[in-house]
Amino acid sequence: MKFFIDTANLAQIQEANDLGILDGVTTNPTLMAKEGIKGTEAIAAHYKTICEMVDGPVSAEVLGTTFEGIVEEGKNLAAIHPNIVVKVPMIKDGIKAIKWFTDHGIKTNCTLVFSAGQAILAAKAGATFVSPFIGRIDDGSWDGVQLIEQIVNIYNTQGYMTEVLAASIRNPLHIVRCAEAGADVCTCPLSSILGLLKHPLTDIGLQQFLTDAKAMQ
Ligand code: G3P
Repeated sequence: MKFFIDTANLAQIQEANDLGILDGVTTNPTLMAKEGIKGTEAIAAHYKTICEMVDGPVSAEVLGTTFEGIVEEGKNLAAIHPNIVVKVPMIKDGIKAIKWFTDHGIKTNCTLVFSAGQAILAAKAGATFVSPFIGRIDDGSWDGVQLIEQIVNIYNTQGYMTEVLAASIRNPLHIVRCAEAGADVCTCPLSSILGLLKHPLTDIGLQQFLTDAKAMQ
């Protein structure tokens, strides 16, 4: 399973990248706005900086909702850097645009996916990635990871090439369960990635080793 970081914060991207386990980055308008990025030029410059930091796919989301608008924006985003993946919402015009991008060799990430039916449509349109939002599904008392399992099963059965990118990750257990469910990619906040490191027996064991090491010097 590939690890992407779900943020537009450069310090967090750098910290995750320095671990050596980062395969890509996803952003969305909420995450970009949080960093104070405003205006077409600043947006493009920020994506370029991220692409120069991380050697892997960087999802840049369109802001428009019409076919023409999405295609125009997507072409401009894709021109920023070869690693840009155009992130498109799961709406009727979005599906049409994803098919257009597929036919023109532009990579896409179909976002705001909450059902297996939506994931089938994204795959039919040739999306490179599909992003089911598992944390937001959990928020409504359904099981987001069950949706990942279902989509992985459908894609394997049907031979769809779209990669299942588990999004809206809220904790380290989500990452573990997505790996079990066969997700191709997990896009996570830095805190969830770092949470994977934690185990009290590791801390206790290391403390003992450090104490005993002193006796060896
Ligand atoms: O980038 C999409 C997704 O990961 C958003 O997560 O935490 O806002 O539901 P969240």
